[in-house]
Amino acid sequence: MELLEMMKVRRSIRKYTAQPVEREKLEKIVEAGLYAPNPGGRQGTKIVILDDPELIDRIGVINANCENRNWGGRGVSAEQPSIIDDLSIKSGFYGCTALGIVCVNKSFAGAVNGIGSAFVVAENMVLEAMDLGVSSCIVGRAGATFEQPGMAELLGEWGLGEDAQPVVFVCLGYIDGAYPKIKEREEGRAFFITKE
Ligand SMILES: Cc1cc2nc3c(=O)[nH]c(=O)nc-3n(C[C@H](O)[C@H](O)[C@H](O)COP(=O)(O)O)c2cc1C
Repeated sequence: MELLEMMKVRRSIRKYTAQPVEREKLEKIVEAGLYAPNPGGRQGTKIVILDDPELIDRIGVINANCENRNWGGRGVSAEQPSIIDDLSIKSGFYGCTALGIVCVNKSFAGAVNGIGSAFVVAENMVLEAMDLGVSSCIVGRAGATFEQPGMAELLGEWGLGEDAQPVVFVCLGYIDGAYPKIKEREEGRAFFITKE
């Protein structure tokens, strides 16, 4: 599929089968993330990949509990309901079978471009996943999730060191059910300022 077409077709998927994502695909998705643009050419991000559904679920519940789910912001997606659309969903990672955690160095995270650098990594991962037939959903609140009891220790266990600050999650897996349609874009969001 042409890149622009793929960007239009991609949707956030929140219903997954139990089928694991193949290791080769995960490696390509990570490679795409590592090649994202990065402020100052510093390559200041790290990517963790988890493929243990139990562990993913455990962290997903903590993630969901970090969100104020009663803020009244319903209507994210009728076909692929989010944790704020459907309060019965327990895990903020929706049963995905692999999870990317994009981290930046703490010293860098506070800087203007620190957080942004993690999100461009996530977007590269999502697009590569799409190209490989793997569905995905970007999920926020990684900072808050890793501030919960027992969570910071995991980063040490995984060998990331003290400086790693989780910023964003990327849920990965195979869609359960029909792929949602393209979401049409609102008018008036683009401005071309031409010289004549
Ligand atoms: C920065 C960012 C944070 C997001 N956080 C969440 C999240 O916490 N939970 C979730 O289900 N979706 C999350 N999403 C996915 C959005 O809800 C989704 O992109 C949006 O509803 C548009 O739908 P689409 O991706 O299917 O086009 C996030 C997306 C972005 C870009």
